[in-house]
Amino acid sequence: MVTASDDTKMPRNKNVLLARPDILTLQPYVNAAWDPAYERLHANENPWRANGDKSTAGLNRYPESPTTTLHAHLAELYNVPVNQVLAGRGSDEGIDLLIRSFCRADKDSVLICPPTFGFYKVAAKVQGANVIEVPLIRSNDGFNLDVNAVLNAVTPTTKLVFLCSPGNPPGNALDREAMLKIAKQLDGRALVIVDEAYIEFANRPSFASLVDEYTNLVVLRTLSKAYALAGARCGTTIANAEIISLLAKVIPPYAIPTATFETVLAVIHKTNRLQIEQRINTLIAERNSLMIKLKQVPIINRVFSSDSNFLLIECVDAEKALAAAKSVGLIVRDMRSQPQCANCLRITVGLPEQNTRLITALANIRATT
Ligand SMILES: Cc1ncc(COP(=O)(O)O)c(C=O)c1O
Repeated sequence: MVTASDDTKMPRNKNVLLARPDILTLQPYVNAAWDPAYERLHANENPWRANGDKSTAGLNRYPESPTTTLHAHLAELYNVPVNQVLAGRGSDEGIDLLIRSFCRADKDSVLICPPTFGFYKVAAKVQGANVIEVPLIRSNDGFNLDVNAVLNAVTPTTKLVFLCSPGNPPGNALDREAMLKIAKQLDGRALVIVDEAYIEFANRPSFASLVDEYTNLVVLRTLSKAYALAGARCGTTIANAEIISLLAKVIPPYAIPTATFETVLAVIHKTNRLQIEQRINTLIAERNSLMIKLKQVPIINRVFSSDSNFLLIECVDAEKALAAAKSVGLIVRDMRSQPQCANCLRITVGLPEQNTRLITALANIRATT
């Protein structure tokens, strides 16, 4: 295993060797030891808590390394071994870490399948990595992978392939067999990152349990959506233990703030799971009902099928639809800059009253034109 103390040992997972050579040999920063048995005079912290500090641990102290308590809880939540998880500030941090660890500037590339989540491209550009785009195939119902086109587009310097399932903005989940075929074919050539930010809203199993079988597979999960913690910023990268060890060398020291750590532990506590599940089910029911109603609105040409907490719609005139939403105090996301998304908007499923207000505003467009 690639660890801080033994970087020269050959990894058992050949996919680790796809990483930047300088990252493979990097000696990581060592956080100040976390040992509650001692009083802390080793981390240049302030000895007094600040007025207004409501945390349990005290924000004057650096947080506990997440590899202990937080990782144990996330591993339990996602039903994987603790050495397969790395917490970050949102799954955005997982995306960024993967690109920084595996892509050499001006040499390596990432492959994305648009329309897709915009941050993959931005993070790649920040790192100086090239971006290969293989569009999803659009059908009446949703967007699907072009497996052969993806495989043919991968070059010897393509290190990461991002598959977003359920997709943002398409909304639908990708075909499981197609994703596994890509992972299998690219073993030893590229990591396949399955971004499951919306998986809790899909009637599909996560790929998280497969990361030892497919050792180039990386799964991104987040607490931002189904767990209602977008403001806490906590995402989890799940991968074979050796890939996790490598990424853990690159993540900045004390990455997860104490306030996040304490909130996450409270929210994902077993006593809250039933309510979380009920809310997910309510959102799914509301999404399905919103879909039926949107399909009846004259200025909407198409409502794409969704396995997430949002719907992608194609309007006759997106500009008018945006204005109608704003006129009743609602903002929806303009997706027209995404490929194959002319006149498309993305609507997050809200409270029933908000959804009704939106439908009424969109339905009224026809009456006034
Ligand atoms: C597909 C996808 N991946 C990742 C993210 C980032 O989520 P997080 O809040 O965990 O950083 C988002 C956010 O909207 C997303 O849509």
